[in-house]
Amino acid sequence: MKFGYFDDEAREYVITEPKTPYPWINYLGNEEFFGLVSNTAGGYCFYKDAKFRRLTRYRFNNVPMDVGGRYYYIKDGDTVWNPGWKPTQTDLDKYECRHGLSYSKFIGEKDGVSSELTCFVPKGTNAEVHKLAIENVSDVQKSLKLFSFIEWCLWNGMSDMENFQRNLSCGEVEIEDSVIYHKTEYKERRDHFAFFSVNAPINGFDTDRENFIGLYNGFENPQVVEAGMPRNSVAHGWSPIASHYIEVDLAPGEKRELVFILGYIENAQEEKWESKGVINKTKAKAMIANFDTTEKVDAALAEIATDWKRLLGVYQVSTGDEKIDRMVNIWNPYQCMVTFNMSRSASFFESGIGRGMGFRDSNQDLIGFVHQVPERARQRIIDIASTQFEDGSAYHQYQPLTKRGNADIGGDFNDDPLWLILSVSAYIKETGDWSILDESVPYDNDASKATDLFGHLTRSFNFTVNNLGPHGLPLIGRADWNDCLNLNCFSSDPNESFQTTNNKMGRTAESLMIAGQFVLYGREYVELCKRRGVDTAEAEKQIDAMIEAVKNYGWDGDWFLRAYDYYGKPVGSKENEEAQIFIESQGFCTMAEIGKEEGLCEKALDSVAERLACEHGIVLNNPAFTKYVIEYGEISTYPAGYKENAGIFCHNNPWVIIGETKLGRGEKALDYWKRIAPAFREEKSELHKMEPYVYSQMIAGKDAFKPGEAKNSWLTGTAAWNWAAISQDILGIKPGYDGLIIDPCVPKDWNKYKVTREYRGAIYNITIKNPSGVCKGVSSLAVNGEPVQGNVVPIQAADSVNDVDVILGDAS
Ligand code: BGC
Ligand code: NOJ
Repeated sequence: MKFGYFDDEAREYVITEPKTPYPWINYLGNEEFFGLVSNTAGGYCFYKDAKFRRLTRYRFNNVPMDVGGRYYYIKDGDTVWNPGWKPTQTDLDKYECRHGLSYSKFIGEKDGVSSELTCFVPKGTNAEVHKLAIENVSDVQKSLKLFSFIEWCLWNGMSDMENFQRNLSCGEVEIEDSVIYHKTEYKERRDHFAFFSVNAPINGFDTDRENFIGLYNGFENPQVVEAGMPRNSVAHGWSPIASHYIEVDLAPGEKRELVFILGYIENAQEEKWESKGVINKTKAKAMIANFDTTEKVDAALAEIATDWKRLLGVYQVSTGDEKIDRMVNIWNPYQCMVTFNMSRSASFFESGIGRGMGFRDSNQDLIGFVHQVPERARQRIIDIASTQFEDGSAYHQYQPLTKRGNADIGGDFNDDPLWLILSVSAYIKETGDWSILDESVPYDNDASKATDLFGHLTRSFNFTVNNLGPHGLPLIGRADWNDCLNLNCFSSDPNESFQTTNNKMGRTAESLMIAGQFVLYGREYVELCKRRGVDTAEAEKQIDAMIEAVKNYGWDGDWFLRAYDYYGKPVGSKENEEAQIFIESQGFCTMAEIGKEEGLCEKALDSVAERLACEHGIVLNNPAFTKYVIEYGEISTYPAGYKENAGIFCHNNPWVIIGETKLGRGEKALDYWKRIAPAFREEKSELHKMEPYVYSQMIAGKDAFKPGEAKNSWLTGTAAWNWAAISQDILGIKPGYDGLIIDPCVPKDWNKYKVTREYRGAIYNITIKNPSGVCKGVSSLAVNGEPVQGNVVPIQAADSVNDVDVILGDAS
């Protein structure tokens, strides 16, 4: 069953049934100001940091689900309704939510009144703009009463939810003309305030929640709206809100457009006040003036569309399969940009107060958007690397507002350092900007400790070299990429977190996944060294030794082991009672092609197909854990089939997919991808539950109570990795140091497709033909009609437009 449809032309997902199986959300903003918005206009917004600078309040996991947002109540006689259906849930004659690229539109119609609410964050602006058009489509005069509503958060998303003895006495507002200002704590340590404005005279307002809603009413029936009369309340403490009251009289056919702005302003210390206790509103007024007409608003919205057209234009494919095309051309890159902006901080599964920017997460996210915004990727790399420690290890996360690393969700994840090599090499391959390696970058944000970025990579590489275990394999530390495989933790206290509890930090537990990573990214490091003229003998020796260690101690007969535990016993082996095989080491060791000549990769992936793959994707381990294994930690706490315990962790499926492309198995690679790609799951929306336009972190696996049900959509490395898998390894257009590498791996029956790729300032119109029906291998390549040896398209002059003709076939 579907709850809407893809409008590829408009680049929108159109939801036509408000009761989706879960709130289906979108993101507003692409720079410093962000909003999360559900298909019923729920959600909240923040400036830079969902923890430290939250503007509006939101209550997660609430009953009913998803209440609180940007609400417009239209009172037409005795009927009250909202353009986005919620919170009144009044049946609408028409409902549509159009989630587009960085904007959402809500179209509601009731009793001859139609409304269209468009929400977005204009470029260069720290505000959400809401354009509300109300039209009388009946043949009688309409006298409507309109109430806007938002609820302020007292800035710190965390204390707002817990420190009531303080914060219920702090709230302060100011009202001037049609603008409601939120100035809690402005007089002391804050130099910022927020406001909610409308570009029309108002007939009243409310700023105190209890007055507006009433203590015994809810968002669905605020007492002021029921009465049809505002109270002009001024909040003193308790819960400040902002609500405008506007009388809208419309003749038949008449339409009125209003612009509401929910803005954020910072003032310099010496410019904070206009007079004693009165905010200096100069900047707010300037911001309001920028959008005081619908023309200005429409122009700002058009600017965003132009931006997206340009960003998405960097890679456009036409395969003839609309589902593939819409994933590659629209939704996957869009999600990648959102993960770039948010890391794992703010979604409907991440509260915004839990996790900031993850070290490993952000490095991996980068491979999904570096082609879109290389300059911002560069800055991101520097920000991330600046939190690294001198021994190469890393804080697991940093806060976006401060850019300082913290250990709030633990540390000592031994995979972390290696991901920096992935992101930096991806950046250079995309841009050719080698100068990034010379940037001076601090350690732990301490400028007195700094080396060039290349030095950071050396330390990343050496961190593994310096932390090998008894088999010469990398020590796992607290955990590797799989946060929940806590081999040193031994937790028996239900009140401690697996992430932060004291680790034994033993030097026995080793990870085969990090081993694969080390070989793969170690080779990348060697390549960078060579091109910098740095001697690579020692590094190559280490990599060779790692390959040997994997072959000697990491092979279980039919697949790669996953790890060695604290006692030195194999994990992910036939010897084990449960969890005999894991996905991560199969993925990483085959991506690194360890033992490929001896057939290990093929064998490992055949075992994946046999033991881990199912209809909805590839599960993480098999058999699932059914008991808690203290020496394995969190992984064995989850019910079978969920999360890291045999769930389909969509993040690691592409590792196998890429592995399959290394073996040249095009059918398998595409088939695995389609199992998890959301557009291919749209028809099963009822089961899948999450948005059909973005990937979810996890789909319940074959051992679960409800296989196929997804959770945790949006903020997941799944976006970036699937982008890499489909665009680079299946469709086969891959940036390299010396040009665009053409290396498709597709099903044999694909006979032709086209890709347009913008790369280092030039455009490449690539046509790939497959006359002899192979999966892999480029038999001929021509650039602008000139034959080229091999499969690398040399870099062409900036601004040039080039035709690239590729024939697949026997590569020799
Ligand atoms: C989850 C992981 C997550 C980690 C960090 C674990 O409970 O299963 O997926 O990355 O917590 O918050
Ligand atoms: C989610 C985390 O964000 C990511 O860093 C981790 O690798 C996965 N969980 C797997 O445990």
